[in-house]
Amino acid sequence: MHVNTPLKVHYYGTPVVLVSTRDVEGRANLSPMSSAWWLGGSAMLGIGNKSQTAKNLREQGECVLNLAPSDLAESVDRLADLTAVDPVPPTKAAKGYRHEADKFGAAGLTEQAAELVAPPRVLECPVQLECRVVDSHPFNATCTAFEVEVLRSHVDERMLVPGTAYVDPDAWDPLIMKFCEYYGEGRHLRPSRLAANWRMPHQHLAAQ
Ligand SMILES: Cc1cc2nc3c(=O)[nH]c(=O)nc-3n(C[C@H](O)[C@H](O)[C@H](O)COP(=O)(O)O)c2cc1C
Repeated sequence: MHVNTPLKVHYYGTPVVLVSTRDVEGRANLSPMSSAWWLGGSAMLGIGNKSQTAKNLREQGECVLNLAPSDLAESVDRLADLTAVDPVPPTKAAKGYRHEADKFGAAGLTEQAAELVAPPRVLECPVQLECRVVDSHPFNATCTAFEVEVLRSHVDERMLVPGTAYVDPDAWDPLIMKFCEYYGEGRHLRPSRLAANWRMPHQHLAAQ
């Protein structure tokens, strides 16, 4: 039987992307996001307007999409309540967000120079996509959908079907964000600060 209920959240399970950007001063930023989808050589990114990432994408028009494997859940979670915006917008401060200028350092991740764009790649991510913004569209009053074109793809060679330009699906275990919790290999991986800050009612919070 189906019940008719106004669902509060529609995060059904999408890969976590670490988006790196630079601001006008050239400072690197790194933020987790999961509202991304790909079609052909392009991607659409859903980004909150109050984030530094949205500002950097608008002003600089470049990013690297670093696909997070499931073993980076802890690093991703270290970024979950941080923003490069200073001062922190009141609505985010009320949810427990803090300002952090050095997101790579906070996450314990390593910057690696990109080849075609200014933002750095994340060394620990086996898929790194250098992208440029080609268009942007207002989305649901608080967000922007940024359309990006993949300019260059860097892939850990161990993930490729030998001799081809195809990823072996068995070699790729993405970190999945499902209803604000982290999953990999189909199982729950660790408690999530995002879920705690959003006061999600599911069972994993009780374990924290
Ligand atoms: C797993 C995960 C997924 C997230 N997905 C998104 C997303 O799709 N879009 C978005 O705008 N923010 C998303 N966030 C929240 C941003 O990371 C957060 O707003 C962050 O403060 C942005 O940092 P910035 O202001 O330095 O850009 C996500 C956070 C986590 C931990």
